[in-house]
Amino acid sequence: MTAQRRTQEWNSSRYAEHARFVSDLGQSVLELLEVRAGERILDLGCGDGALTESIVLRGAQVVGVDSSPDMVQAARLRGIDARLVSAYRLPFDCEFDAVFSNAALHWMKRSPDVVIHGVRRALKPGGRFAGEMGGHGNVAAITVALCATLEGYGVKNIGSVSPWYFPTCEQYRERLESAGFAVSWLELIPRPTLLPTGMRPWLETFAIPFMKALPVDERSQFLDEVTKRLHPVLCDFRGGWTADYVRLRFLARLGE
Ligand code: BEZ
Repeated sequence: MTAQRRTQEWNSSRYAEHARFVSDLGQSVLELLEVRAGERILDLGCGDGALTESIVLRGAQVVGVDSSPDMVQAARLRGIDARLVSAYRLPFDCEFDAVFSNAALHWMKRSPDVVIHGVRRALKPGGRFAGEMGGHGNVAAITVALCATLEGYGVKNIGSVSPWYFPTCEQYRERLESAGFAVSWLELIPRPTLLPTGMRPWLETFAIPFMKALPVDERSQFLDEVTKRLHPVLCDFRGGWTADYVRLRFLARLGE
């Protein structure tokens, strides 16, 4: 099986049930954005639009883009101007006062620079880019368990299976600056995160590319094994699971 076909797939109902905390925990980056009424804002990787809605409520005119048809449909049901657009082909030119992105940029591993350049093109002079994504060390224990378990199934080239891009501060700052942004804030923030419905549903929601490295009939056992491996590290004595999240949060601006 090629790496190409091991893509993440999104199901808005599953996401709402097992991953609502992702948008609930997006308030800090929303504060960094400092929305002003009347601004035009692009939400890059808007998902089902839960956070996009908060930007709309602050009086901005918001366009949301996402590459998942199911997520775009869910966002439209909230009344959001959501469009099915690849982050690698943003079709905007000097249109937005700000670009916002929460928990999406780490899925754009193939070419982060293409995404950042598309953001730059989309912004008006002086525009700002506020984002939060997984940073270096994010879900490290989970990634080790996924890779070690896959290795046990004889999967080769494990390094290429992970769909996630979790940069260091230095790496992401350099990319932003190379694209012409001045960085006003950029920080790596450890944020252990309680998983409301546990580890197994988290894996089923977020680790699909790892599952797809295996035949369909081996996937359920694979997830059981990963969950078992992680139990002594991430499950507490009451049965609550905490994932080892590390966020990279930033605010960058273009010159006037
Ligand atoms: C995150 O939001 O940090 C994340 C999302 C998917 C997989 C791993 C981490």
